[in-house]
Amino acid sequence: MSAAKTKTGVAARGSRSTNVIVPLKSKRRFYGHGIPGVDTSKLAGKLIVVEGADGSGRSTQIQMLVDWLESAGHSTVQVGLKRSTLVSEELDHAQDGNILSHTTLSLFYATDFADQLENIILPALRAGQMVLSDRYIYTLMARDIVRGMDEKWLKNLYGMALVPDAVFYLNVAPEELVQRTFAKYSTLDYWESGMDLGLSRDLFDSFLKYQALMLRAFKSLQSTYGFHIIDAHRPVELINADLRKKIEAVLTGHRVD
Ligand SMILES: Nc1ncnc2c1ncn2[C@@H]1O[C@H](COP(=O)(O)OP(=O)(O)OP(=O)(O)O)[C@@H](O)[C@H]1O
Ligand SMILES: [Mg+2]
Repeated sequence: MSAAKTKTGVAARGSRSTNVIVPLKSKRRFYGHGIPGVDTSKLAGKLIVVEGADGSGRSTQIQMLVDWLESAGHSTVQVGLKRSTLVSEELDHAQDGNILSHTTLSLFYATDFADQLENIILPALRAGQMVLSDRYIYTLMARDIVRGMDEKWLKNLYGMALVPDAVFYLNVAPEELVQRTFAKYSTLDYWESGMDLGLSRDLFDSFLKYQALMLRAFKSLQSTYGFHIIDAHRPVELINADLRKKIEAVLTGHRVD
C-alpha cells in the first residue's frame, strides 16, 4: 500500500504537465443492501477489479498498472481475497483442515471481504485513491456456484459489495493455466484444482475440469455483472496496454469498450 500523494490522491495539476488524468466523479452504488451508513457520494476514488483464474496473470498486470498509475500521480491501494487481518489466518487453518461446510467456508470468505471493504476499500475511496482489487466477489460467487450453492442467496449476501468502476476478466484457457501455474509453483493448488469436489483423483485432470466449471460459472455471472473479457493469452505488454486504455476511459468518464 502506498501513501497518498495529495489529499485527493491525484497529483496537483502542473506537477507533471502531461499524462495526469484527473478522475471524473462517478455515481456510486452498492449491488444490494451495501454497508449501512456509507455516503456513496463521498467516494471520490476509483475501484478497478482484475479477475481471472489462478495463473491468469492478475499479479503481473496489477503491478504494471500500479507503476503506471503512480507514475501518473495517482495514489494506489491494493486489495485481494484472504488478505484481511481479521480472518485470513483462520481461513488458512480452516482450509488446511478441510473442516468447514461449503456454507460456513463461504461465509468465512464473505467476512474477509466485508472486513476489507469496510476498513480498506471504502476509506481509500473516500480519500480519492485508486483501489486495485486482485479478484472481488465474482470469484467467491463462482466458486460457490460450482459447489452447488444457491445463486440468489449469494447475490443477496454480496449485495454488501460496492459496484466497481471496471471489472476486467483475464481469460486464459485451462491448458495454458496449468502450464503457467506449474512453471510458477511446480504444483497445482488443492482448492484451485477443485479436489474437494471429487471430479477426478488425478490433480491435473481435476484442475482442467474445475477450471472449465469455473469458466461456465463466470459466464453465467457476466450478464448480471458485466465484466470486460480480456484475451490474456497475449504478451504481457499488449494486455497491459489494453487495460490502460480502458482504465483511461474509466477515469475520464467515458464508456469502456
Ligand atoms: N501474458 C502472459 N503470457 C505468458 N505468461 C504469463 C503472462 N502473464 C503472466 N505470465 C506468467 O504466468 C505466471 C502467473 O502469473 P501471475 O503470478 O501474474 O498470475 P496470477 O493470476 O496472479 O496467479 P496467482 O493466482 O498464482 O496469484 C507467472 O509466472 C507469470 O510470469
Ligand atoms: Mg497473483
